[in-house]
Amino acid sequence: MKRKVMTEVRVLLLESIHADAVARLEAEGYHVESVRNALDEAELIERIRGVHLLGIRSKTKVTASVLAAADSLVAIGAFCIGTDQIDLPAAASRGIAVFNAPFSNTRSVVELAVAEIIALTRRLTEKNAGMHNGVWDKAADGSHEIRGRRLGIVGYGNIGTQLSVLAENLGMHVSFYDTADKLALSNAHRCASLEELLETSDVVTLHVDGRPGNAGFFGAEQFKRMRPGAIFLNLSRGIVVDHVALREALESGHLSGAAVDVFPTEPKGRGDEFKSELRGLPNVILTPHIGGSTEEAQSDIGDFVANKLAHFVREGNTTLSVNLPGVALPQQEGMSRVVHVHINTPGVLAQVNSILAEHRVNVEGQLLSTRGEYGYLITDIKSGFSDDVLDQLRGMEQTVRLRVLS
Ligand SMILES: NC(=O)c1ccc[n+]([C@@H]2O[C@H](COP(=O)([O-])OP(=O)(O)OC[C@H]3O[C@@H](n4cnc5c(N)ncnc54)[C@H](O)[C@@H]3O)[C@@H](O)[C@H]2O)c1
Repeated sequence: MKRKVMTEVRVLLLESIHADAVARLEAEGYHVESVRNALDEAELIERIRGVHLLGIRSKTKVTASVLAAADSLVAIGAFCIGTDQIDLPAAASRGIAVFNAPFSNTRSVVELAVAEIIALTRRLTEKNAGMHNGVWDKAADGSHEIRGRRLGIVGYGNIGTQLSVLAENLGMHVSFYDTADKLALSNAHRCASLEELLETSDVVTLHVDGRPGNAGFFGAEQFKRMRPGAIFLNLSRGIVVDHVALREALESGHLSGAAVDVFPTEPKGRGDEFKSELRGLPNVILTPHIGGSTEEAQSDIGDFVANKLAHFVREGNTTLSVNLPGVALPQQEGMSRVVHVHINTPGVLAQVNSILAEHRVNVEGQLLSTRGEYGYLITDIKSGFSDDVLDQLRGMEQTVRLRVLS
């Protein structure tokens, strides 16, 4: 196979991906086919031939067998946060880049947390339930302003930091605890220990990630450490909290309220019953894992992932790819760009450059990055080189995939 620059780019989008993504990809001149539902493995194997870009959400499984049938695929866009549904190592072994949208719904989670902090601090859930039952309870007892109260954020990442800024703007004092070294934003106070945060906060909210060590890390001992009358929120991962212990802390009156969006086991589909120890408690807000579910977040995910795919096709840039090394090299006019995915072993760069030198091809720009088993090399060279160069690069023992972009 000689020089092969992608002329017509075929895109297959499954699971009703947002119209903004379709528009963005069509604007690149790609031929986009949209399918409403997820496809099962056999159907996807049938449809994947000749497709250059595949877009999915959480329901489509991209298995090693699907990837083996994908004769033209260069990248997969997961138009969601998680990528467990894709066989990432199998994709990397074929030089197929996978992108997702890790930050697109953080603002939505933060806004829900703010709404819940205010609702619980004002005991709105109980007032609302009372009114629907004909009870006019105008009492101020137990209702507070959030201004001047202390918010304790556990996990100061993308979501925790945004919440920190918004909560301070609403007049709250903010403390945080993170296992990693994190810069305190604005006036936020960094706690030396989780215990310090629990003992000093009026509201404790969890925004930790789902690493295995976090399973069950917040239980009876942590609830006991919290201030009497404090409020608890979890919009991070269901597995991190012991819900039996949370129920006890609420029933005993030690905590005055809670909001929980994520659960250790969640119903698979719409019709399935939601089961939880937390059902039926007053001043507890339960939501069906909707922290990141807004139309704005969906639109942002569509735009973000479509952009990543377009940049990858045009420039070969892999910034924020979840399975290939991240490389971004600014493109220069009049250059051919050669992208080389290879097995990460010593001497690959030297071998590539010696092939180029042998053919008197001058390197105008070059960037290499490695990640585990694989290396990703972008090389810009003046157009007009012979096809032997590409044949020799493709013939290298370590070559996984070679793409010529212009
Ligand atoms: N409810 C929803 O719909 C929804 C939507 C988006 C994200 N999330 C979840 O929210 C969580 C936070 O997301 P993010 O994008 O901010 O993640 P992130 O990776 O940017 O931040 C997580 C932070 O938690 C810290 N951390 C991890 N374990 C800790 C521990 N035991 N104690 C203290 N700090 C700890 C990490 O060092 C990191 O700074 C994730 O679990 C994510 O899955 C939920």
